[in-house]
Amino acid sequence: MTRRLDATESGIATAASILRAGGLVAFGTETVYGLGADASQPQAVARIFEAKNRPRFNPLISHFAHAQAAFQQVVPNALAHRLAQAFWPGPLTLILPRAPGCCISDLAADGLSTLAVRVPANAVARALLEQVDRPIAAPSANRSGRISPVDATHVLEELDGRIDAVLDSGPCTVGLESTVVDLSDPQRPCLLRPGGITLEELQAICPHISLPQTTSDAAPHSPGRLISHYAPHLPVRLDALQAQPDEALLAFGAPRPTNAPLVWNLSPTGSLEEAAARLFTGLRTLDHKGQAMGLTRIAVQPIPHHGLGRAIQDRLNRAAAPRPQDGTGDTAP
Ligand code: TXA
Ligand code: MG
Repeated sequence: MTRRLDATESGIATAASILRAGGLVAFGTETVYGLGADASQPQAVARIFEAKNRPRFNPLISHFAHAQAAFQQVVPNALAHRLAQAFWPGPLTLILPRAPGCCISDLAADGLSTLAVRVPANAVARALLEQVDRPIAAPSANRSGRISPVDATHVLEELDGRIDAVLDSGPCTVGLESTVVDLSDPQRPCLLRPGGITLEELQAICPHISLPQTTSDAAPHSPGRLISHYAPHLPVRLDALQAQPDEALLAFGAPRPTNAPLVWNLSPTGSLEEAAARLFTGLRTLDHKGQAMGLTRIAVQPIPHHGLGRAIQDRLNRAAAPRPQDGTGDTAP
């Protein structure tokens, strides 16, 4: 049985002691729920891969309460300091060389010489991290290849019985994973994953940041960035102007007449922030209800390509990508 802990002082204290003892606790951040384990204990980290049913290892992000704690485990450069100042705490992950004496287990870092670090903004997450006082490795708290959870109920749908507890801090406000920036070569900063901090926001501080040309280009640099991910059970059809009668519709913008028997509008007012926050719940809802209604696909209306639209489109492209035949979801973190 997985315990559901309230975001009270005693709930946070219980979560912290489970983590220190090498257990698994899912906790809310502003982006998505993470599946946390003490990053310095290899056995605890191994349990993450087991719980997610992930057949291969993959480097995980280490989470910290403060930039100072994060920068003890890596070698920060001037750009890292500027980005941390601008966006931490918040939905930005930095890839930097591991510091000599770094305490993160090789398993959490997948044996790489670099490490992904992040300081989340969610107050409950920060209180937890502060109490544990150790780096916490946390991938999104979903089964491998599936839709990321943005509330505690989603986590239990995915992982009930497989993890020790979920610390319920309510729905995630951003709703998309953090933006991942590789700063391991300070001359060539590179965006590995679009996310909660937009490209435009990054460019204000780092005008020369480079973008992978295609998602498959990103894969070698960021091992978890393989194509199929965020996959609902129903197939996904992108850039649909209109839905067929056997399709659920993921809509964006002012409602238009439709044949679709089931609709989830990401944002009737066309707000990309609202759309990001409602994306994963929308995919999950259309998938569950659509299957129950005998629908055969999820059709997705076009999303603008600027700001958070880039990260939303990235997740939708992955949801629509061809899937492995065996259904194990051996595709993504
Ligand atoms: O918002 C988030 O980032 C959430 C919350 C829980 O913090 N976490 C999350 O973790 O999305 P995960 O494991 O689902 O995604 C981590 C991404 C993967 O694409 C992984 O390949 C990449 O970060 N990554 C981790 N370490 C890396 C490294 N040393 N070099 C390159 N990419 C790395
Ligand atoms: Mg993930």
